Amino acid sequence: MLLSRFVSILTASLTFLFIMSLCGLLLLAHMATFKFASANFPTDAQVRVVNDTPQWSQNVSSCPGYNLESLHETSHGLTAQLNLAGAPCNAFSEDIANLTIQVTYETQTRLHVNIFDTAAQQFTLPPTYFDRPSMSDSDSASFLNSSDLKFNYDPSPFAFWISRRSAPNSPPLFDTRLTSLPITPIPPFIDPNDSRTAFDGFQLVFERQYLQLTSVLPTDANIYGLGEVVSSSGFRRDVSQNGTIQTLWARDDADPVNENIYGSHSVYLEHRFNETSHTSQSHGVFLSSAAGSDIFLATPPSTNKSLVQYRLLGGTLDLYFFSGPSPKTVIEQYGEVAGLPAWQPMWGFGFHLCRWGYSNISDVKEQVENMRAANVPLEVMWNDIDLYHSYRDFTSDPISYPGDEMRTFIRELASNGQHYIPIVDAAINTLANSTDVYDPYTQGIEQNVFIKNPDNSTYIGQVWPGYTVFPDWFSSNAAQWWAEALQNWTNAGIEFSGIWLDMNEASSFCDGSCGSGADLSNTSVPVSLPGNPGDLVVDYPEGYNSTISGPSGNITVNGTLTFNAKQVSLSPSTKRGLLSKRGLGSANGSNIDLNDPPYAIHNGFGPLSTRTLATNATHSGGYVELDVHNIFGYMEERATNLALRQVHPGQRPFIISRSTFPSSGKWTGHWLGDNYSNWTYMAYSIQGVLQFQLFQIPMVGADTCGFQGNTDEELCNRWMQLSAFTPFYRNHNQRGALSQEPYRWESVATASRTAIAIRYSLLPYWYTLFANASTHGTPPVRALFFEFPDEPELFAVDRQFMVGSDILVTPVLTPNVSTVDGIFPGRGQVTWRDWYTHVIVNATAGGYTTLDAPLGHINVHVRSGAAILLHAQPGYTTNETRQGPYSLLISLATDGSAYGTAYIDDGITLPEENGHGIASRTLKFVAHGNGVTVESTGAFKVVQSLAQVTVLGLPNAPRSVSADGKDVQRSAWQYDAGVQRLIISEQVIDLNDGSVIRWQ
Ligand code: GLC
Repeated sequence: MLLSRFVSILTASLTFLFIMSLCGLLLLAHMATFKFASANFPTDAQVRVVNDTPQWSQNVSSCPGYNLESLHETSHGLTAQLNLAGAPCNAFSEDIANLTIQVTYETQTRLHVNIFDTAAQQFTLPPTYFDRPSMSDSDSASFLNSSDLKFNYDPSPFAFWISRRSAPNSPPLFDTRLTSLPITPIPPFIDPNDSRTAFDGFQLVFERQYLQLTSVLPTDANIYGLGEVVSSSGFRRDVSQNGTIQTLWARDDADPVNENIYGSHSVYLEHRFNETSHTSQSHGVFLSSAAGSDIFLATPPSTNKSLVQYRLLGGTLDLYFFSGPSPKTVIEQYGEVAGLPAWQPMWGFGFHLCRWGYSNISDVKEQVENMRAANVPLEVMWNDIDLYHSYRDFTSDPISYPGDEMRTFIRELASNGQHYIPIVDAAINTLANSTDVYDPYTQGIEQNVFIKNPDNSTYIGQVWPGYTVFPDWFSSNAAQWWAEALQNWTNAGIEFSGIWLDMNEASSFCDGSCGSGADLSNTSVPVSLPGNPGDLVVDYPEGYNSTISGPSGNITVNGTLTFNAKQVSLSPSTKRGLLSKRGLGSANGSNIDLNDPPYAIHNGFGPLSTRTLATNATHSGGYVELDVHNIFGYMEERATNLALRQVHPGQRPFIISRSTFPSSGKWTGHWLGDNYSNWTYMAYSIQGVLQFQLFQIPMVGADTCGFQGNTDEELCNRWMQLSAFTPFYRNHNQRGALSQEPYRWESVATASRTAIAIRYSLLPYWYTLFANASTHGTPPVRALFFEFPDEPELFAVDRQFMVGSDILVTPVLTPNVSTVDGIFPGRGQVTWRDWYTHVIVNATAGGYTTLDAPLGHINVHVRSGAAILLHAQPGYTTNETRQGPYSLLISLATDGSAYGTAYIDDGITLPEENGHGIASRTLKFVAHGNGVTVESTGAFKVVQSLAQVTVLGLPNAPRSVSADGKDVQRSAWQYDAGVQRLIISEQVIDLNDGSVIRWQ
């Protein structure tokens, strides 16, 4: 949410309190002649310690690198020792003298290079929660000599490079040699005032709190991924001189540009185009690490080389390389490591409506009614924190959202084929006093499931309900406690179909701990909420003109909660942290600065503990927050997914979550967080959706019509149409902003009906794309170059996108226009037919073509060669839509061919891990010359028949048409020579059997 304004107030007051408390603390420390040193932590983690011993050199130029020794070749690769090659440089902590490198050729297309401290003291992702594919020496197949990739190395100083076996002399895909680079350090160049943007060495650095690895990139490399980010350079990352600093540190901030935000994804795809052969190859690089990090993509002056440089605050260098060679296969290969995306229920593809600020159940019911009255399909109604009693998780307000009424309301939704999703915030409110009753807290304390301070006391933070504790997902009781809380909630009337996970970076309004001395009886909301007096939402989209667009003063102000940001002062406790109980990762080390690691990554909030948990907060099993911060969201998503399997046995959990990490897609979908109601952010939503396809979290979408600020009719109209072509389709709005449900403006309602009808017709196609994602990791939504990798003019395109391989979407992303320019891939070899008229676009080969795009019209084109199964009659819900017959849309290529597949099942049952275990049916459509065959396999019985077949690109009118050998009556088919279209209707073709439809 837009916190910037009150954050600055909060920050100012916190800074004041912080300074005051620090003074108090120092005074106390002085009186007790107690000296703070880096290894002694006060109980309350917010307090900074002065790191006076030892002094780190802060300079990697003198780091000695490593020598490779004791090489041992295995049937799958090699292992060796990497020993420090000279005197330690202690740049940002102690150099680790002895490392192990393990190189494993895991598959034909995947090479695993794992460099870790031999003593295994550094933090690594716990295998209990992250099941990466493993390979033992006993695995029979060896890719050692056949893999697409090859690991090469120089032993001294150690450097390695990865090449393609097929092209040993081409520039390597990853190359840490950097021998040609100047030895002299490069002064700060991205920001002259920021010493961290200096590059002062390229050798491997592996210290307790600082790891550095650098690889050469081709100049102007095509890099995609690394995130989560709203990137000013678009989906394609900037590798130019000042390039990109991608910081990974999960952070609750409202979608700032080029800064770290909610999720942490250290995977990128590089796409290389060969100017001579005009062909391309992609590869991928994944660093499996939870460490807070900076990843630089830049071309430092005087190097003449573009580089990727990883700087990590800990952990190990666990790298995977994927050989592709196409963008889609790189993403699929990453999916083999990260895990494949969760199966989604069919209803998840319906239209979702949400806002912050529905003040009571009548408000919510009214939305459902108004949507129905306006005939704008509504599949899922959501509730934000307004639902809660005192902003507490797993409650509903007894006055405004009484449980019994909620139960009745949700059951009514269900009887109409609709669903309900409530929000679950990450933090759990504490008890205000001895008479306070709040089970999730009491039970959690009893079951010991909350994160601790170093002295084993419960860690206190602060979110909407006031003071809070945070689930410790590593605690053995946490998952069951969480499942019970969800079950109890549903028993109390909140019979949700899915769950929305928010604030899980984890967000906390104190910077670090609120102190053990927090006054828990203070239950006021700690910040002023948007929409409150003094915090009215007054922004409008670019170009908004109140004299044309309507009175700007008509802003709804919800609620009367008053600002009450009373912060407790920090506890003056001088208790030393009880380090003895720890023992993993950073928690295991001496000379570790948990509070303020010596290298400061470019966290948008500065200090790591700002607006989140303190880095020395302690987890069960001996983990410290510094090491596991980036996986809080992941751990919660996993626990929630497993909990939902208990609440709804056998059904696919539907979860949308904010903070994600590699492998999150196995458990959850994602929304793009707190965007703005403006045109710029509508355009950014496309790169966001594309990023998450690469991250293997394909169920993703933006807050449609925009979250922060007021939207307007034109923006909302365009955005409702755009998002209808993104996987997760939800309109969500900030508290206090003008209402933006699609029925609020006639033009938006109409535009929405149009776009939703297309979406629901395409449900079989979406569903098939997601089945392919869940079984093969194939990204459902695609950048244009994913499909046309040899066309460099597409490499930076992110104002258009493709759904699957056959649908091209060209949305309007600017105000006050009635045309849009789009590029049509294929350079004239592919024809693109307009979705609505079926007319072929007269496209400029390799260039842009201007299309009509009046308000309410979104350009959608179908690729030649496509055969797409559709629902013939989009209904009000996905369920209604599925009750109707199917139709088939075939767009013939110039050689008369077309191909497509469809996957069908019951839309709700959870398949087993391997995709088996439920009845399903796969259809294959193959068109050639004068007919199409439908091949049908599987055990699922498709009740609805194929009623209509539309064939586009038939140059001549057929004389006769037959289906399964029987003539189709002349009245049941029509041919339109103008658009070369044959429509065969009134059919009852059984999709459970194969069939043949002919025209001649
Ligand atoms: C956060 C969420 C936003 C939600 C708000 C109130 O800002 O990102 O979607 O509406 O909290 O719960």
